[in-house]
Amino acid sequence: EPASTRQNQPRSKSRKRSRSQNPSANTRLSAQDFVFGETLGEGSYSTVIRARYARTGQEYAIKILDKNHLIRKEKMLVALAEKNTLIKLGAGHSGIVHLHWTFQDDWSLFFVLDLATNGEMQTRISRMGSLSLACTRYYTAQIIDALEYMHDKDVIHRDLKPENLLLDSNFRIKITDFGTGKILESAEERAHSFVGTAQYVSPELLERNETSKSSDLWSLGCIVFQMIAGKFAFQGLSDYLTWQKIKSLDYTFPDGFDEDAKDFVTKLLVRDPLQRIGATRSPSSPSPLRNHPFLASINWETLWTDPAPPLE
Ligand code: ADE
Repeated sequence: EPASTRQNQPRSKSRKRSRSQNPSANTRLSAQDFVFGETLGEGSYSTVIRARYARTGQEYAIKILDKNHLIRKEKMLVALAEKNTLIKLGAGHSGIVHLHWTFQDDWSLFFVLDLATNGEMQTRISRMGSLSLACTRYYTAQIIDALEYMHDKDVIHRDLKPENLLLDSNFRIKITDFGTGKILESAEERAHSFVGTAQYVSPELLERNETSKSSDLWSLGCIVFQMIAGKFAFQGLSDYLTWQKIKSLDYTFPDGFDEDAKDFVTKLLVRDPLQRIGATRSPSSPSPLRNHPFLASINWETLWTDPAPPLE
């Protein structure tokens, strides 16, 4: 039985090896080429481990997926989708974790990713309680910049949340975990099937099992709320009760929530996905998100070279 299921493993139609599998001419990477260190994260199908590529000394985060587990849980296509999404996004944006190489052995798939040494945004928010307005603006701008790049390449993330926003050595954002990512096929504006985390899931996904680029904007609204308020926009005593609140747009801003930020979040947390700010932007037109007063102080030209505001 395992022998036949093994046929279902990632086998591209053409057997041509992509360059992503060839770090330098004709050599194929294996786990032996890396010195493995601490565990950075653990998911249900994978573990992320810090590792040094012995040949160059460069450090990476290697995501290791257990093949048997993927097969048993019928998640091989999910792993493949993650790889394909990361390949499609390429190295074109520093706000998105870049996939350097992939390889496999009998037991595991290995994704060699950018290392983000300062961990998850979630940890920062929990540790600080909430973020300063300056920090929130800076991170919101970086998320928007990365999201617009991704969406212009017809990729939807579908599970944006502070756990999937990593911080690199300069405390800049790197979006990760494209296991729920979706590449929209030509003319396909909406994707089906359930994904996501209760607190950040959009009403259209709950009501019509439908996601689009705009669902990532809904999640952005939830994230900005959380960075400022230090708590979820929508939180019930169970996932079910959280979803009820999302569907009825049942959330309130705490006292003292910045007025521009309030307007920004209010324009993202809109039930109709087409009415959300930035939802109908075309790649060539100016971005209403970027031009919102909340982000007026952002210098978009130097966004990825400016130092991050102090985490206070
Ligand atoms: N945890 C999960 N992915 C990671 C990465 N790429 N860098 C650091 N920590 C991580």
